[in-house]
Order: sequence, then C-alpha cells, then structure tokens
Amino acid sequence: MDTKILACGESALKTAAQLIKQGEVVGMPTETVYGLAADAFNEEAVKKIFKAKGRPADNPLIVHIYDVCQIQDIAASIPPAAYKCAEKFWGGPLTMIMPKSDKIPDITSGGLDTVGIRMPSNPIARRFIQLCGTPVAAPSANLSGSPSPTTAMHVFKDMNGKIPAIIDGGSCNVGVESTVISFEGENGIRLLRPGFISVEDLKEVTTNVTVDKGVVEKLDENTLVRSPGMKYKHYAPKAEITIVDGNAQQFARFVSEQSGDFMCMVFDKSDIAGLDVKFVEYGSTSEIQAQKLFDTLRRLDEIGAKKVFARCPDKNGVGLAVYNRLLRAAAFRVVKCHE
Ligand code: TXA
Ligand code: MG
Repeated sequence: MDTKILACGESALKTAAQLIKQGEVVGMPTETVYGLAADAFNEEAVKKIFKAKGRPADNPLIVHIYDVCQIQDIAASIPPAAYKCAEKFWGGPLTMIMPKSDKIPDITSGGLDTVGIRMPSNPIARRFIQLCGTPVAAPSANLSGSPSPTTAMHVFKDMNGKIPAIIDGGSCNVGVESTVISFEGENGIRLLRPGFISVEDLKEVTTNVTVDKGVVEKLDENTLVRSPGMKYKHYAPKAEITIVDGNAQQFARFVSEQSGDFMCMVFDKSDIAGLDVKFVEYGSTSEIQAQKLFDTLRRLDEIGAKKVFARCPDKNGVGLAVYNRLLRAAAFRVVKCHE
C-alpha cells in the first residue's frame, strides 16, 4: 500500500475522514504528537492500529473527541472532578480515564473496563474528528517502542506502506504526549503520565493530586501498574543514553572524564564550552525541550550515535514530562553529579 501525505485543507480532511468511515487507519496531527486514528467503535479498524504499530494488545488506546457531548457515548459515568478538568483544560493535552461504556470494544480499551478520553485543541484534529462522525481511537503514530512522531515525516518513516494516508499538520506545538490522569475518592486526581498540563496546573482543580510511582521510577514486578503504557520500554532510540544529573559545570566535568566515542545531548552549546566533544542541542527551556525531545532522539539514530550523555532536564512544570520520557529513553540510567 502506498502511504499518501495529504497537505491539510478541507478537501484532504474529507478524504481522510472517508478512509476512517471505511475502517482504515489515518495519521493525524494533534498539538502533542501525531496519532494513528481509527473509528473507536469499529473493532476491525482498531485491530489495524495495533498491527501497524506492533503494539501489545493489553496497552489501551486513547479515544479522541471534537466536542464534549461525545463523552456520553464513551463513558459509563463521569467523575465530578472530570467536569472541572474538562472546563479548565479541554481542548488541550489532557487525557482522563473514566469507566467505559459498552459501545467501546474491549480491543480499544486493551481489555480494561475504563477508557482514556481526550479532546485535542489542534483545530485540524478537531475538524477531522468531526468529519469522521465518530470518536477516533489514536495512539501515538510511532512503531511501538520508538520515539513518538512530531512531524508528518516522522510518521511516514515509521508507517510507510502500512497505512493509506497521513494528514500533514506541520510540527506539533507541545511535542510530548498528553498528561494522563485517573480519578480516585471524593475529589482526587492521580497523575499517570506527565505532560504539558502540569502537576501545578492540576492542583488548581484540587489539592488532592497524587503523582503515581511509575512517573519517575522503574516499577518492579510486584507494583500495581495503573497505566499499561508505563511498563513498556518507550521512546527509545537505538543509542545507549545515560542521563547526567547536575548543573552545566558538573555535566562538563563528567563528560571531560569520559573516553571513547560518544555524543552529548545538551541544552545549548554553552554546556560544553571549550570541550572537544560531539553534541546535539535540545533547548534551554522546558517548553522547547518538550518540542524538540523526540526529534532529537530520532536524529541521534540518524547520525548513528551509539553512546549518548544527556544533560538532565529541570523536573518542574512540563519539565517533568521531558524527564519522564528521557528516563525511559535512557532505560532509567541516571548518573548523579551533585556534591
Ligand atoms: O497526546 C497523546 O495522548 C497522543 C495523541 C495522539 O493524542 N496519544 C498517545 O497515545 O500518546 P498512546 O497510546 O501512545 O499513549 C496512551 C497512554 C498509554 O500509556 C496507555 O497505557 C495509557 O495512555 N492509557 C490509555 N487508556 C488507559 C486506561 N484506560 N487506563 C490506564 N491507562 C490508559
Ligand atoms: Mg505512545
């Protein structure tokens, strides 16, 4: 099958929506990362997503909507705090886990009795979902285990020949996947995956916010996995990445003591000023790092990097999302350079 890249516009969106109605899978831009979209209610179509990605069947998909009224068909009940979150953060990079309705097939929810729901802010995604006439299930459009795609070309590289079309919506603004939360107790929120909507943002809705252990720790076999995606190796390039936790000076001292062939992944070149080392930059603010992270990981593969020392991002705000993804890309290898 030839994979077409559709320059986005109303007629391209109609063509893509027609493919969804025929039970096909389409690459879709969102403000976070590109998704692989299919009719969330159509088992056969959703099966094609799992096949194209090589995704384990127990890892559930997020269901995307263009209007809040679509929730009625997807969720069996809506936790009170979800209304507040929807009002504050939708359309936007927030996925909320709720009990699923019978209309959502088990394959979409990975066999769970809950479903993740998200209303993106990206106007192309919203118009496309509206034209599809159905909520669309969409995981990130990468091959399972690879860095998420933030451009149509990234999707093409992973999905060429596997899906009929990709809608080209340019580079994604946010760059890391949505914040995923579940609800517990009276008014509690549990953060399962950090994203652009930060812990600080969620605390404006309720002070009762718990950051799940899996966000910054490797879960051992005995720990309850609340979000199946957390247990898989993720976002990983082929290079062996080590996170170096320390300030610019400590980072520079650490790499100056290393031998052999390696690359540095730095905020900007001042981090390694005066050193004769190969490097890539991924930005000096958490927002830029989020936008550039996955592209940088893909570039490291393209240049054939084998060993990479990455400067540790700040862990506040969207920085926690950058750290969470980089930690998985580094298979949890962290060297601490603090005194
Ligand atoms: O920004 C995003 O969320 C992107 C774009 C395309 O919208 N999508 C995305 O989907 O990142 P995916 O499938 O790559 O990641 C979804 C994550 C997985 O870690 C999955 O385990 C978790 O959300 N998840 C989905 N449904 C869940 C559920 N019912 N319970 C717990 N975790 C769930
Ligand atoms: Mg993913």
